[in-house]
Amino acid sequence: MYQFDRAEYEKRMEWYTDARFGMFIHWGLYAIPARGEWVRSQEEIPKEEYMKYFYEFNPIDYDPKKWAQAAKDAGMKYVVLTAKHHDGFCLFDSQYTDFKSTNTKCGRDLVAEYVEAVRGAGLKVGLYFSLIDWYHDDFPHYGDRNHPMRNHPEYSNENRNFDRYLTYMHNQVREICTNYGKIDLLWFDFSYDELRGEAWKGTELINMVRSLQPDVIIDNRLEVSGEGYGSLASGNPAPYHGDFVSPEQMIPPNGIQDVNGKDIAWEACVTMNNNWGYHATDRYFKPASMLIKKLVECVSKGGNLLLNVGPDAKGNIPEESLERLAVIGKWMKKNGDSIYGCGKAGIEKPDFGRVTAKGKKLYFHMYENTIGPVPLPQLKKEDIASIRWLATGAEIPISTSWVHSDYPDIVFADLGPDPVLPDEIDTVLEVTLK
Ligand code: GLC
Repeated sequence: MYQFDRAEYEKRMEWYTDARFGMFIHWGLYAIPARGEWVRSQEEIPKEEYMKYFYEFNPIDYDPKKWAQAAKDAGMKYVVLTAKHHDGFCLFDSQYTDFKSTNTKCGRDLVAEYVEAVRGAGLKVGLYFSLIDWYHDDFPHYGDRNHPMRNHPEYSNENRNFDRYLTYMHNQVREICTNYGKIDLLWFDFSYDELRGEAWKGTELINMVRSLQPDVIIDNRLEVSGEGYGSLASGNPAPYHGDFVSPEQMIPPNGIQDVNGKDIAWEACVTMNNNWGYHATDRYFKPASMLIKKLVECVSKGGNLLLNVGPDAKGNIPEESLERLAVIGKWMKKNGDSIYGCGKAGIEKPDFGRVTAKGKKLYFHMYENTIGPVPLPQLKKEDIASIRWLATGAEIPISTSWVHSDYPDIVFADLGPDPVLPDEIDTVLEVTLK
């Protein structure tokens, strides 16, 4: 009978909840059609037709050191790369299939080079692995909710052996956990309908993973998808429980709590445009200022942000993504203390922005200036040791202006005469409590 060991769990989660910010990388054959990673399913492309991308794939510019450096310079502390997405193409040298990067023109184990580059940059190594596999003949085709051949009766499932598929899938997970050194994060994706938990032989799978990678952190999608929390939130975690909840393309309004109201770890995964995989015509990239504020929002609600990039067929991260990562990195260099290891402040959200906290430090993120001195809600003057501009360390005095004399119980910070905040995106006040 599985017993959830909270102390062991919280120890292995330490680096993750301290990191707060990671890079998601969706990359594979689908970068060639350049219409997103679900293109084979959405356009119901038969395997034979999809194989043209396999024979063409040759990412001549692939240099994972550049990717790792871009993540590091953006202030990200971990990276998660799709080792295999739903199309079944392996970016690693699997002994269980020919549908792999080492059999393409590039002839490279892309995952091996990636883990070396990310580890070399001092970042934590994450791998995404799809539980779903549209290439494998033993995975359900006709009538499945997502398979490219779901509407084609000629792809019926009589002769498909799902147990044989599970053996294949488990063997590949074993390869990933054996052949690439320490893996810090395994990001399984995703469960749906009756395909969840033990339907994946989840207990056997996780026992194998933990025997090979005892400190690895695992997401919750052996049980659910971007919807559903999984048994971690139930108060009675299953053997294959996720270590964090994985909301997708949204930020939970109040963070995430378990059935007992206790905050639990969560990570919002978000695209910069509207696609995980490279999409040639999706130019709707979120502004860097918005992405910084969403990172702050996640942390202020006790969560992480996993921000996605989708490299193109040649292996280049899109310029729009690199531009945003550079702006984020510039802000993080000066304000990272208000993100790393921070979480909920336990005080109400101020009108002017948000609050993150770590121990005796409260970080007031100012998105807009106030008229007159800045009210700092629910603080007492006698509890404050200091107030500083986080970015410069400059002292911020407590205001003694007459304009707020009617509010003696509220602390006001005096930001001086300039109505324009020094950082137009997010100016952070660091309040140290006694
Ligand atoms: C969804 C998408 C998948 C993507 C994942 C990222 O599961 O189907 O393509 O990899 O979200 O969270």
